[in-house]
Amino acid sequence: MTHYINEVTEEQLKEILSKITDCVKRAIVAGVDVIEVYGDRLVGSLCSKIINKRTDEYGGSFENRIKFALQVVEAIKAASQEITIDYKLPIVTKQPDGTLLGKGGLELAEAIKLAKILEEHGVHMIHVAQANHTGNINDTIPAMGTNKYCFMLDECKAIKNAVSIPISTVGRIVDYKMAEKLINDGVYDIVGLGRPLLADPDIIKKLENKQEQLIRQCIMCNKGCTDDIQNRKFISCVLNPENGYEYKRFITKPSKIHKVAIVGGGIAGLEAARVCAIKGHDVTVYEKSSRLYGQLNIASVPPRKEEMNRSKLYYERILKHYNIKVLLNTKFNKSLAINYDDIIVAVGATNAHPKIKGIENSVDSWDVLDNKVEPYGKIVVCGGGLVGVETTEYLINRGYEVTIVEMLNEIAKEESKTILPTILNSFKSHNVIILTSHK
Ligand SMILES: Cc1cc2nc3c(=O)[nH]c(=O)nc-3n(C[C@H](O)[C@H](O)[C@H](O)COP(=O)(O)O)c2cc1C
Ligand code: SF4
Repeated sequence: MTHYINEVTEEQLKEILSKITDCVKRAIVAGVDVIEVYGDRLVGSLCSKIINKRTDEYGGSFENRIKFALQVVEAIKAASQEITIDYKLPIVTKQPDGTLLGKGGLELAEAIKLAKILEEHGVHMIHVAQANHTGNINDTIPAMGTNKYCFMLDECKAIKNAVSIPISTVGRIVDYKMAEKLINDGVYDIVGLGRPLLADPDIIKKLENKQEQLIRQCIMCNKGCTDDIQNRKFISCVLNPENGYEYKRFITKPSKIHKVAIVGGGIAGLEAARVCAIKGHDVTVYEKSSRLYGQLNIASVPPRKEEMNRSKLYYERILKHYNIKVLLNTKFNKSLAINYDDIIVAVGATNAHPKIKGIENSVDSWDVLDNKVEPYGKIVVCGGGLVGVETTEYLINRGYEVTIVEMLNEIAKEESKTILPTILNSFKSHNVIILTSHK
């Protein structure tokens, strides 16, 4: 059998340790205060009962498997006795069905043992995390509706009870009130935020300034951030237009205040309204229907996607904070246009209805999600793109038998690969028939 990586030799491990010492020395010169040992990947693989098959002094017994982890800690201390050391402790977790999740780390009992040893070795804090090498990035970066909030809660408590140094964890801790409560309840001492800080890097500043209402909460869609790094692109965020563009997108003050009309009260229109209001412009949002948030109202209907509503609540607070005028049930027209210096069109997309004989006997997926019509019985969903697939999720949860017909050779092509397995599992358990390459 050919391996695409070779087993690391003892000489290579020594070389890595020496480079770690050099790297820490450079980090100190650069002003770094804390070094986190990445206890996953190489270090975690060596610690792992599952991955580590070595027969030398780094394999076999628990003591041998954790040897390199301790040598990494010593290599950091060789560069500085003062630097604060955090240790990312990857845990192979037990799932409700008894199966183990993750390979590059230790099961809880051994993780507790290692945590105590790390404390004895002078590690200052421990970061509790789900072990990697699971085969699905969604296991460590769970998308909306696919895992509970603070999913490492139990493991975190167990490690905290075993040591006296500060403990942190990360993972679906979206709400600052929850983050604070978990600290007060003694679950951890420090909260780790991944995606929430991509959606809003100023969370802490806003809390300090008592501007909680301005916090933009991540919706855990994995679209901009996780999908992009998986596709080897740079990180972006569907809610934060500055993310990934910090070097060139700045909200500047204009030389003259304009009267701005925003046509369309969906998310794009409301984000444009927010930026114009921060710039100091006089903004009015025109929305022809009786409610704001456009397609988000139907996109958030499938049960798994309810977390999208966090962005509705965000804009509700933003509109209030910046006193942005909103005119509902108002169609923008020429006579209104003459009152404005600038008009921003953000009317969104419309649904296409292909000319197929008999289409008049079908119902529109947007109307189904919007609860305007209720199909029944055996249902065929024509088109297995995002909307078709999510409409199917909605329908099977209401007990209907569904068949999806899709022209392409796969369904949900645009869906995040982190979410797709959850959808496909649900389709399997609800006996959804999927006909790809069908018209
Ligand atoms: C874009 C992105 C890149 C990440 N890269 C790493 C990484 O290199 N190493 C790591 O241990 N975790 C990485 N993570 C996982 C985060 O550290 C964190 O465990 C995960 O996102 C769950 O926390 P959250 O719900 O606060 O986002 C990454 C997460 C995201 C979204
Ligand atoms: S792209 Fe989605 S998951 Fe990623 S940070 Fe933005 S809102 Fe959160």
